[in-house]
Amino acid sequence: MKIISVVGARPNFMKIAPFIKAIKKHNNNHQENEVEHILVHTGQHYDDKMSKAFFKELNIPDADINLGIGSGSHAEQVGNTMIAFEKVLRDEKPDWVVVVGDVNATLSCSVTAKKEHIKVCHIEAGLRSGDMQMPEEINRLVTDRLSDLLLTPDTMSIENLRNEGTAEERIKFVGNIMIDTLENNRDKASKLGIPDVLADNLLNFRSFNLQAVENIFALLTMHRPSNVDKKEVFEPLIRFLLDEVTRDMYLIWPIHPRAQKQLKDFGLWDDVMKNDKMILLHPIGYHAMLRLNMSAKVILTDSGGLQEESTVLGTPCLTLRWNTERPVTLREYGGASVLVGNNVERIRKEYNEVLKLERKKTRPPLWDGNTAERCLREILAYFKI
Ligand code: UD1
Repeated sequence: MKIISVVGARPNFMKIAPFIKAIKKHNNNHQENEVEHILVHTGQHYDDKMSKAFFKELNIPDADINLGIGSGSHAEQVGNTMIAFEKVLRDEKPDWVVVVGDVNATLSCSVTAKKEHIKVCHIEAGLRSGDMQMPEEINRLVTDRLSDLLLTPDTMSIENLRNEGTAEERIKFVGNIMIDTLENNRDKASKLGIPDVLADNLLNFRSFNLQAVENIFALLTMHRPSNVDKKEVFEPLIRFLLDEVTRDMYLIWPIHPRAQKQLKDFGLWDDVMKNDKMILLHPIGYHAMLRLNMSAKVILTDSGGLQEESTVLGTPCLTLRWNTERPVTLREYGGASVLVGNNVERIRKEYNEVLKLERKKTRPPLWDGNTAERCLREILAYFKI
């Protein structure tokens, strides 16, 4: 059997690493029935810190093929990926294309594969935010509509697919593959020292009281267009963080290129750089982020993956969004996160509440570190139905 798996942007790398490991393990144990695997990187994320660093850290082999798509509008990224990926499919003629998550690579490659009559498997199927303003929601809907095999991370995703009329035999519950990566890397991350994480990644060089940082800090990630693309939304958020959060504790912000650019365009960059309790970092690696997450008093984030990791690690999480495709991570379902949107009053209220909370770990069903093997098993079993 020949499988092409696809990655494009940063959140894909943690999802593909355990899948590739599962293929290697299968090939070692079943030499008569080996899986031929080709890894395609669309090249959407190309900076060393957004891409190469993760391959190295997570032991992902170099991509066999890089489509070199780079930055651009959504139509440019999707269109260029489809044109390049179609050639790959015609040359390689795989039995399966495996896509993960919800980025532009997920959409482009699933559509292209279906048009070439190649089976598509979607890992992390069935997540729905209901928010059609999110490019990721469009990517999820199209990919799930087309995929032959829908591998779901939680039971709510199964319900979403059923409600859309998806045939039962296409849906398999495998658990959350991100948690495989978390478990595979937990030991390594916990051995990192916070001072080293900061020293290795500092963007605004300044002296700060390391002991005070280690005692209590907040962790921030923010990059979604809905938060950073409009000044009238982004500026009040930044003012709240600078004027209120940094009054209580240090705030560590590994900053995404999109957010950095917007701060500069909106004239907010100097204020952020000047604040002596704001520790700005370059985009950090997987282990560094896991290490900070393990000790943060609170996380403020608009990332989907961090909502999941915080739930398993028990870090109180304020999700800077009005909706989530990952309700299983919400406090009302036992998780660590609460939706606060981007309204400062609401964020302030929940922030003050969250400071009183202790860490509380939860593990939804099948978030057990063995999801990748179940994914591969479902693909191998498909034709035996
Ligand atoms: C993409 C994903 C999003 C994911 C995020 C994680 C889609 C639709 N969105 O959004 O789901 O949460 O990745 O990072 O696929 N840039 C660089 N260096 C890079 C890559 C990008 O400087 O290596 C810059 C680009 O020039 C662009 C900005 O960052 O201006 C945004 O990049 P883009 O790939 O368009 O989407 P993300 O916002 O990263």
